[in-house]
Amino acid sequence: MQTSTLSETQEIVQENLDYTLFSWSKQKGQNPLAVKHAEGVYLYDYDGNRIIDFSSGLMNVNIGHGNQRITDAVVRQMQEVSYVTPSCVTKVRGELGKKLAEICPGNLNKSFFTLCGATSIDNAIKLARLYTGRHKILTRYQSYHGASIGAMAASGDPRKLPVDAQQAPNFVHFDLPYKYRWEYGEENLLKETVASLERMIAYEGPANIAAILLEGESGSSGCLQYPVGYLNEVRKICNKHGILLIMDEVMSGFGRTGKWFGFENHGIIPDMICMAKGLTCGYIPFGCLQVSDTIAAKYDDVMLALGLTYSAHPVACPAALETLNIYEDDNLIENAAAMGAYVTEQVELLKQKHPSIGDFRTTGLLGCIELVKNRTTKEAMAPFNAKPDEMEVMNKVAAKIKALGMYTFVRWSYIFIAPPLCVTKAQIDEGLAIISEAILIADEATTA
Ligand SMILES: Cc1ncc(COP(=O)(O)O)c(C=O)c1O
Repeated sequence: MQTSTLSETQEIVQENLDYTLFSWSKQKGQNPLAVKHAEGVYLYDYDGNRIIDFSSGLMNVNIGHGNQRITDAVVRQMQEVSYVTPSCVTKVRGELGKKLAEICPGNLNKSFFTLCGATSIDNAIKLARLYTGRHKILTRYQSYHGASIGAMAASGDPRKLPVDAQQAPNFVHFDLPYKYRWEYGEENLLKETVASLERMIAYEGPANIAAILLEGESGSSGCLQYPVGYLNEVRKICNKHGILLIMDEVMSGFGRTGKWFGFENHGIIPDMICMAKGLTCGYIPFGCLQVSDTIAAKYDDVMLALGLTYSAHPVACPAALETLNIYEDDNLIENAAAMGAYVTEQVELLKQKHPSIGDFRTTGLLGCIELVKNRTTKEAMAPFNAKPDEMEVMNKVAAKIKALGMYTFVRWSYIFIAPPLCVTKAQIDEGLAIISEAILIADEATTA
């Protein structure tokens, strides 16, 4: 009998490599973390090592890992009924809809339940076009809205470039500069960005534009915050031209930015909200398209041409409802705001020690450090859409972060700091100590 020389962890990893495919990466050379269990802000591998999760999975596990309340809610529901068609109802579906209407501002009172972020976005695009009878959707280049054909075409993220030929039509992108890289005076930033959007709308024909779709706060593109007052101006422009405003709150929603939704930091109310991630915190895949009463009313007497076999999935609904209760019971949204302020203070101190820290931006706990080669020129440690050879330093930084026992999202010159909202000051200190040690590597590559 042949005995395996692989450890349990190696066997698990090998079987995954042999039989499964990995997102957004070359399949060869993968070295994934094998997670056995997780609790709070920590992941544990099969060898018993503890890893601090500084990106809440994919910025979705806002309430933290391993919360028994969700498991209990899901199990209770499964013991009653695991599936009914979307034309049937369960008690919890109505309760969840009611709770979301309470949380959402204005008259955003109606929920169409989806499966994930991309299905929320696709349905928002479809509904905006049906409702307005117009076809164009305006979005930002530096944005990500999902990987389905519609959501990917809406995104400006370079992940869509390999499937460029498959893009869905009628998406128009615009560039939106951000403060750190804007050279023409902060006072001109808002004026210029609004003026260029207005010009673009005139060129495209306002009567052809169904919606402007924007992230509530920028996420994986590098937390590229809106100029102060920008979303307010966008809201006014939308009102003027009968254009709908859709906020993608898939990443920025559910307390991540210190408010229920990212757009609440800007004092506006959109016409639709796309939700996923923090709605169930990844315990069960789920999403929601929240729409205003005004939009919903049109479909009182007209067929609503949207549908999914798993819309309002009975097991996902209690997971979402319990998640929303946990945000409130554990004061997680207040904690996100307080811990965001604490991270900001601490990174300010790190800046004095590390010449490679160019900028740090965070809204609540949706933040990232941007590393630069030179603080004066602001040349990024790795450029936008960096090629493998341009990632040499950042890959070493990422490898060091991993070796020191942290899981977080490192992209181009960005190191994301987006831990679960239950994080404590001590855990932030623990995480920042790891990042500080890792970016010594980047400090060596600076030129000033
Ligand atoms: C802002 C934003 N919108 C949409 C999505 C897509 O969500 P999903 O991967 O659940 O389809 C993501 C995913 O990261 C996201 O960050």
